[in-house]
Amino acid sequence: MVNKLTILKLGGSVVTKKSRPLTFDANSVRNLSNVVKKFKEPLIIVHGAGSFGHYYAKRYRISDKPTKSTKHVVKIRDSMQLLNQKIIKIFHENHVNTFSFSPTSMYNNKKIPIDWKKILKKSISLNLIPVTFGDVLIANDGFYIHSGDLIVHDLCKLLNPKRVIFASNIDGIYQNPEDVSSLIPIINNNKNNLKFSKLHYDVTGGIKTKINQSLKIANLGIDVQITNGLNIKNLSKALNGEHVGTLFVGDNV
Ligand SMILES: Nc1ncnc2c1ncn2[C@@H]1O[C@H](COP(=O)(O)OP(=O)(O)OP(=O)(O)O)[C@@H](O)[C@H]1O
Ligand SMILES: [Mg+2]
Repeated sequence: MVNKLTILKLGGSVVTKKSRPLTFDANSVRNLSNVVKKFKEPLIIVHGAGSFGHYYAKRYRISDKPTKSTKHVVKIRDSMQLLNQKIIKIFHENHVNTFSFSPTSMYNNKKIPIDWKKILKKSISLNLIPVTFGDVLIANDGFYIHSGDLIVHDLCKLLNPKRVIFASNIDGIYQNPEDVSSLIPIINNNKNNLKFSKLHYDVTGGIKTKINQSLKIANLGIDVQITNGLNIKNLSKALNGEHVGTLFVGDNV
């Protein structure tokens, strides 16, 4: 069953309006819930932080480096719990049943313990869609931010899905983000001549992190596609294995 698994990352740029602090995109989430409703295969969803978590993390200058600033950690965490609740509420209103796991409960000192394999498989076999999200985690050296893109990679190591889809607000990776005709259909290896635009609210490396994680996941032998989650037709095609965005072909090295 689990080798038919797909992991879908809903980028913060599709569940929120990332350029404005704390703006949830209910319309987009409703559209996404419709796509997920039609997809009948085993699925896990990870969502990003968008203008919720990224906003506070940027404001308090907290990133992947450990911090002991509990006051700020609380703010970021609250904002992520709120975003998660807003997302799953819309899914549930649309009769798409999810089972939300706080990443804090899943991780033990930067790793997802093997027991979670059973828990996640069990939830899927009960027709629930496990959902988790980028958040603040606690480790021996303090609190740190673990982004949704990194969680996807951790889940891939644990569950070996057949496919990963990163849905963001771009059609894929561009050679130059200012030129929409420069979409790259396939990335096989490290591309060091890509251009990147700077994002206002992103503390976890933006598209560069996504490319790095995609390359790592493809190295596990898993196909990865980055596509536009605001284009629900394309997202649906990507979930069903069609090539519509930027593909990283799974290649076990
Ligand atoms: N070369 C590039 N190709 C594609 N997108 C790029 C490029 N350079 C920068 N970007 C930006 O990267 C953004 C997507 O990365 P970002 O991390 O913001 O998305 P996300 O993962 O959906 O959000 P979150 O991190 O909140 O989950 C796009 O909105 C785009 O503006
Ligand atoms: Mg990101």
